[in-house]
Amino acid sequence: MPLRDDFLWGAATSAHQTEGNNTNSDWWDYEQRGIVPERSGDAADSYHRYIEDMELLADAGLNAYRFSIEWARIEPERGHFSASALAHYRRMIDTARLFQLEPVVTLHHFTSPRWFSRAGGWRHPQALDRFSRYVERVTAILGDVGWVCTINEPNIAALGHRFFELAAEPGGAAAGIAQGRLVPDDEIGDLLVRAHRRAVAILRAETSAKIGWTVAQQAFEATPGNEDAFARANYTWEDRYTEGAQGDDFLGVQSYTSQPVGADGPIPHPPHPDNTLTGWAYRPDALGIALRRAWDTSGGLPLLVTENGIATNDDARRIDYTTAALTHMEAAVAEGVDVRGYLHWSALDNFEWGHWAPRFGLIAVDRNTFARTPKPSLAWLGAVAKNNGL
Ligand code: FCB
Repeated sequence: MPLRDDFLWGAATSAHQTEGNNTNSDWWDYEQRGIVPERSGDAADSYHRYIEDMELLADAGLNAYRFSIEWARIEPERGHFSASALAHYRRMIDTARLFQLEPVVTLHHFTSPRWFSRAGGWRHPQALDRFSRYVERVTAILGDVGWVCTINEPNIAALGHRFFELAAEPGGAAAGIAQGRLVPDDEIGDLLVRAHRRAVAILRAETSAKIGWTVAQQAFEATPGNEDAFARANYTWEDRYTEGAQGDDFLGVQSYTSQPVGADGPIPHPPHPDNTLTGWAYRPDALGIALRRAWDTSGGLPLLVTENGIATNDDARRIDYTTAALTHMEAAVAEGVDVRGYLHWSALDNFEWGHWAPRFGLIAVDRNTFARTPKPSLAWLGAVAKNNGL
């Protein structure tokens, strides 16, 4: 079955990972306090170089670009909104259109304003009102945007929230991790579902966008005798968030790898020469598992692959991985799964949440001069896009 004529072929980034100097965000704070190993600093300087970034994607033949709006820039202090930051993101939307790239805009990609997190983050009694007020402000520039993702990987955000709380305990996060407490926090998960539902209502009233959120698909595999643990892991890590997508226009699917589940939950990836630079098992088939499962558990929501990619210094391996992943995606489509687009993670090598070594980009970035050098995988993916399939 051929892919839809309006299939989106693109690449994705997030603000904190690429813009640089996101100084009012909670992550900037964690970086300066040494809670994560490396700092984002100037990142890829995309706050100033987004035109060049988009031009490279468009020239290669892609027709979509997923990027995020940074709450910490829009509302650097509680109740203080920056008109110039809003204008900046509106220029990004206009620039994407100029290059005939469909903008896919994420409103929250892991980072929150420092003031929000210092006050308890999502646990603060006014957290949902605070997020909704930000969404209302941002909605003003989104009227004609086709695709909006409210919150990126709420399941991993619920894990991250737990991590930074463990890190604040005496002695740091290590003890809590050893006790097995680093799992997505259920209470935060519920709050994020409520935050998402409120954001959807605000966006529906004011925009014509297709609205959804993007869930990190685990592609868990049961090990014999551990079916109950498998079901529990799926609920904690994934299904709660798929349920939260009911009523949406699409579900974002983000897939990198697959993991077995044992009696005690997901089993960490054992060391293996094929593991990627993030230590994840090389599993391009995970995308097929993820798409079929998202389709089944969501009751048939249209799916958009909002992230898929590999951390490697070997670009030929990136092409191999992506070829295999797209083969699995096309097989799922042939079975009747409704997939609307494929957005590769990532457009650029960028700040991988405390680490610079894992390189996911279709484009290399010199961290001193910020010079962009497209890798062969960019032209390759552009050719797949122009062909609308492998
Ligand atoms: C996802 C994140 C994205 C990036 C990739 C590798 O969990 O959404 O920002 O870090 O993983």
